[in-house]
Formats: sequence, C-alpha cells, structure tokens
Amino acid sequence: MKTQYFAAASLDGFIATEDDSLDWLFPLGDLDDSSYPAFIAEVGALAMGAATYEWLLRNADAVTAETGSPWPYTQPAWVFTHRTLPTLEGADIRFVHGDVRPVHAQMRAAAGSRNLWIVGGGELAGQFYDAGLLDELIIQIGSATLGHGKPLFPRRVLSPVLRLLSVRQMGAGMAELRYAVEKGGAE
Ligand SMILES: NC(=O)c1ccc[n+]([C@@H]2O[C@H](COP(=O)([O-])OP(=O)(O)OC[C@H]3O[C@@H](n4cnc5c(N)ncnc54)[C@H](OP(=O)(O)O)[C@@H]3O)[C@@H](O)[C@H]2O)c1
Repeated sequence: MKTQYFAAASLDGFIATEDDSLDWLFPLGDLDDSSYPAFIAEVGALAMGAATYEWLLRNADAVTAETGSPWPYTQPAWVFTHRTLPTLEGADIRFVHGDVRPVHAQMRAAAGSRNLWIVGGGELAGQFYDAGLLDELIIQIGSATLGHGKPLFPRRVLSPVLRLLSVRQMGAGMAELRYAVEKGGAE
C-alpha cells in the first residue's frame, strides 16, 4: 500500500493558474495516455484540499459530461477544509481539518491493501510529506509554462533527493515522471 501524489503540472511547476483554472492543461495530453488508468484501479481512498474540491463543484457540468457524474470517484474521499462546504450528490466524502496523520490512518483503514491518492494541492501533499507519509510522486509535466500559479510541491527536498523511477513520454505535450520519496527526507 502506497501513498501517492498524482498530479499534472506546467513545466515551471504549477498545477493551476492563480485563479484556479486548469484550461491550459487539458489540451496538453490525454489522461488515458498516462499511467492514470492503471493508477486509479489501485486507489482505495483519496484526499484533496478545499480549492481542489471547489474546482470540482464549479465544474460539475463539465465533469458530468466527461465522466457521467459530477463526482468522478468511486473511492471514499477526505476533503481538508476549515469551512463548511456543500456536498456533491453521490460523493462519499468526509470533511476534515488539521493534522494529516489521523486522516491518513482512517484512509488506510478504508483502503485495505490498495493505495492512497493525494489529489492535491501541493501544500496538502507537502503536509503528508512532512509527516513522512508520502511514498511516491507521479507527475505529468506539460510542455507549457504559466509564470505564476498554484505550486506543485512547495517543499525543499534535498537530503536525500527524490529517486526517479520512470519517465514516460505522452506525445509532444507531456512527460510523466514517477519518483519515490526516500524515507527520512522531510526537513
Ligand atoms: N494539475 C493537477 O493535476 C491538479 C491536481 C490537484 C489540484 N489541482 C488544482 O490546483 C488548485 C489547488 O489549489 P491549492 O493549491 O490552493 O490547494 P488545495 O489543497 O486544493 O486547497 C487548499 C485549501 O485546502 C484547505 N486545507 C489544506 N490543508 C488543510 C488542513 N490540514 N486542514 C484544513 N484545511 C486544509 C484550506 O482550505 P480552507 O482553509 O480555505 O478551508 C486551504 O486553503 C486547484 O485549482 C485544483 O483544482 C490541479
């Protein structure tokens, strides 16, 4: 069972624009050409931050058109927020806040032997990293730069650095990089 941060970023390290747009991302590549189909088949629980959840709320019509449901996940989900947010019909969600460690334990219990997906954003993935709970990063790097935006992973990972496990080209628009987190690395 692994805890994995799977996300797509611009070449200069942003997962969304400052105003939370992902419009730049979708033309760059097809998720089905990434490791996503094999990845999601092994996910037993997922966690995301409030801004990521609010993107799903705002884009419910587009997500429904794409996946048949405003909530595209069958797995139980934990949404980190300090606020009261609306629920999405059909979604198996728990709203949580604070320390990621007890939430990780709940996710593990729900997922059994399957993996845990930290959907994002980068600061939330960083909180799991800080707690020594992040095992892998699977990042599609797009052939585009944004200049500013929401950071992929606002942490300093130097000692030890991440271990590159694989590189996969997705046409001319993206490359997928998979990294293992070497334990004992959080500063
Ligand atoms: N390109 C990709 O693959 C990808 C992946 C994921 C997300 N995204 C997009 O990137 C953007 C991410 O936004 P973001 O960087 O702001 O991150 P985010 O993690 O989605 O949202 C940040 C918010 O989550 C809440 N939060 C985080 N940690 C918390 C904790 N421990 N306890 C309680 N609340 C906590 C806080 O919300 P409050 O205090 O306001 O409640 C915080 O302001 C979104 O637009 C999303 O759609 C892109």
